[in-house]
Formats: sequence, C-alpha cells, structure tokens
Amino acid sequence: MSGNGRRPAAAPAVNRPASPSPRRGGTSRWRGEFPYHWDADDVVARRELLGLAVLASGALFAGTAVLAAMGRLRERRRGSARPVARLADVPEGRAYYFNYPGEDDQAVLLHLPGGRFVAYSQKCTHLSCAVYFQEEHNRLFCPCHDGVFNPQTGEAVAGPPQRPLPRIALRREGDTLIALEETP
Ligand code: FES
Repeated sequence: MSGNGRRPAAAPAVNRPASPSPRRGGTSRWRGEFPYHWDADDVVARRELLGLAVLASGALFAGTAVLAAMGRLRERRRGSARPVARLADVPEGRAYYFNYPGEDDQAVLLHLPGGRFVAYSQKCTHLSCAVYFQEEHNRLFCPCHDGVFNPQTGEAVAGPPQRPLPRIALRREGDTLIALEETP
C-alpha cells in the first residue's frame, strides 16, 4: 500500500494471441501429420557418402595392387636358357663379361673361390652405371658413385645403392654354363 492509503492502479490487461497449435494451419498441420526428421536425413546422406568413398578407395587400392603384382610378375622373369661360357673361360677368382638376357644387357659371371659360379646384371641398382669386378678387392664396384656389392650374394654393401644386383640363375651342363633367367 502507498503512503496515501490508496492501492496502486492495476496494469492494463494485454490480449496475447494464443500460441499456434502444430495441428492448426497449413504448414504446422502438414508437419504434424507427416513428421520428418531432417537431422536424421542428413546423417544418412553423410553415411552413404562415406560408404561410397570407402568403396571407391578400396577399389582403387585393389586395382593398384593388381597392377603392381602384374608388373612384378612381368619383371621377375627375364630371359631364356642359353649357354654363356665354358668353365675353362673363367678361372677361379676371375670374372667373365657377357650379355644377358638381351644383346644390350651387360652381365658379369664370377668364378668364386671354392668353385662356385654366380652371375649378375652389371646394371648398378643406384643409377644404372656398369658394375665391374675388382679382383684385388674381391668386390663388385660401381665407379659412378663408389657403390660396392658383395660378389657372393650381389647385396649392396657400401655407397648409395640400396638394392642387390639382379641375379642370373645358372645351370651347369658338362663344361658349359647356361644362363636360365634374370631375377630382380
Ligand atoms: S650408379 Fe652406381 S653407385 Fe651410383
């Protein structure tokens, strides 16, 4: 109550519009009768897109793997059987140079101590310079960047080459050595 004993005047009544019912009117009624969850629709679309992306990636990966395998198979076997030297041509501890599998492919045959014969492509696995056998150091040497390979195994042991020399499989027939194929 105020100091003069009168009650304060009441605030005038305001006519508020009734809140719209979801079941009244055009759009609200439509939404009420056919509720559609747009958020869920968005999630499904994203899920489908993700599935397609995974599928496409899988197909791409599988295709690449098949092509790589075909390439490996193609490069695994090079050349066919043909005689390359007579045993007497290669004294123990010495090298014999020949061409295999093609006429332009240089290769080296080594007669290792103990009577074993091995053959490799002369193409250095760094940048394809020709590799030579150095008897005095008992090593296969690439003069371009001082690459060194083990004559027993063809493995790279020094310098920039990281991979072994391609090996040429051999077979002995009487006093003749036959090159069978080159393998990486
Ligand atoms: S090409 Fe042989 S070491 Fe570089």
